[in-house]
Amino acid sequence: MLLKIAAVCLFAILALFSPVVQGQVASVVPEDCLGCLCQASTGCNMTIPCTSGHQYLCGPFLISWAYWADAGKFVLANDDPERKGAFEACVQDAVCAGETVRGYMAKFAQDCNGDGAINCDDYAHLHILGGFGCNAPIAQTPFYQGYLACRNTVQSLSG
Ligand SMILES: *[C@@H]1O[C@H](CO)[C@@H](O)[C@H](O)[C@H]1NC(C)=O
Repeated sequence: MLLKIAAVCLFAILALFSPVVQGQVASVVPEDCLGCLCQASTGCNMTIPCTSGHQYLCGPFLISWAYWADAGKFVLANDDPERKGAFEACVQDAVCAGETVRGYMAKFAQDCNGDGAINCDDYAHLHILGGFGCNAPIAQTPFYQGYLACRNTVQSLSG
């Protein structure tokens, strides 16, 4: 519970201090939503290592190279998107990872669950399922259950 609030607060605080890289992108996914996607992915663990299974996923949001590339290859200040390691450096940084998620959602935003609105529930679908076929059922997955648990602690998302 406290960790969840801490994760959500982290993004709220980062939003205050981080320059907005792309103004239009930044307004798509609310801070609280970003916090819950992070929470559901890894408990928002900022130091979690990249996964070594069949999918190479990095950072607190468990982002793949393809997701990062689709999002627009955000990089740390003065880094080169074509540099080996630029992907990992970005998605392991709270601000750059957040911009990556927002870039991805801005590109693929759609009503995944068919409820007539595009909101954080849809971003949770997109985060796991990607931009093509995001209507697949994921309600019972640990990620989505974690997302719902977080969402229910955050007033702006549970209303
Ligand atoms: C983050 O993940 C690392 C590696 O799995 C682990 O050692 C560490 O305890 C985790 N941190 C938190 C706050 O859970």
